[in-house]
Amino acid sequence: MVTGAASGIGRATALNLAKEGADIVAGDLNGAGLQATCGEIENMGRRALAHELDVANSDQVAAFVKAALERFERIDVLMNIAGISPKQSFLDCTEEAWDRTHDVNLKGVMLCSQAVARHMVERRAGCIVSIASTCSEAVIPALGPFYHTSKAGVMQLTRYMAQELGPHGIRVNAIGPGLTETPLTEESRSFPEISEAMLSRIPMKRWGKPNDIARVALFLASDDAAYVTGQTIYVDGGILCMV
Ligand code: NAI
Repeated sequence: MVTGAASGIGRATALNLAKEGADIVAGDLNGAGLQATCGEIENMGRRALAHELDVANSDQVAAFVKAALERFERIDVLMNIAGISPKQSFLDCTEEAWDRTHDVNLKGVMLCSQAVARHMVERRAGCIVSIASTCSEAVIPALGPFYHTSKAGVMQLTRYMAQELGPHGIRVNAIGPGLTETPLTEESRSFPEISEAMLSRIPMKRWGKPNDIARVALFLASDDAAYVTGQTIYVDGGILCMV
C-alpha cells in the first residue's frame, strides 16, 4: 500500500515496488494521478488498485484498508508518503494551516499505520515506512514551522511504533528526504536565487530525484533490512552535515 502514489516520491516508490514484483494499492487525493500510476503498474504486468482518499480522515482510511484486503487478502508493506507543505512564517501561520498540516503529515501516518498494523499483527509480519524530512532534525526556514513539527512527529511516531510492533514481527522505519525534485518543490526551484542558495548547502551539489528516495524505501521494505527498525534514514545529498 502506498499513499501519495499519484505524484513525486509516492509514485516513484509505487513503481519501484511493482518493478520488484509487488502488487500495489495506491492511495491519494488525486484521482487522475492515481489512474496514471496504476496504468503504469499494470503495464509492468502487476496488479494495481487505485483508491482515492484523504489520509487525514479515519473513515476513509478504514475503507482504504478494507478495499486493499478485499482485493489482495494481505498487506505486506505500507508506505506512508502523502504529505503537504504549506509555507507560512511562524508569526503569520494560521491555525487552519497548522491543523491541516498536522492532520495530513502526522495524523495521516498514525491512522494508516494503525489500521494496517492491526492486520499485520494477526499475520505476525509486515513493514511500515513513512516519509519524514530533514526538517525532522534541522530547520529550513522557507518550509514553515508546522512542516517541521509534523515531520519531527513522524520521526518519533516511527520510534514509538517500532518498539510496540517489533515483538509482533513488524518493522517500522522512516526516510528523511532532502530537497527532492517533485511538484512539492516546483515553486522553490523556479526562483533561481532560492534554488542556488539551497544547492550551495548540498554537498552532492544536486537536488534529489524521486528515485533516490524510492530506492531506499525499497531497501527498507526488503529482507536486506530484516534487522532495521525504529530508524529515520536521511537521503539528502549530505545537507544535514551542513547545519
Ligand atoms: P508531491 O506533492 O509530488 O506528492 C504528494 C502527494 O500526496 C500528492 O500526490 C498529493 O495529492 C498527495 N496528498 C496530499 N495530501 C493528501 C491527503 N490528505 N490524502 C491523500 N493524499 C494526499 O510531493 P512529494 O515531494 O512527492 O512528497 C512526498 C512526501 O515527501 C511528503 O510527505 C513530503 O512532505 C515529503 N518530503 C518531500 C521533500 C521534497 O523535497 N520533495 C523533502 C522531504 C520530505
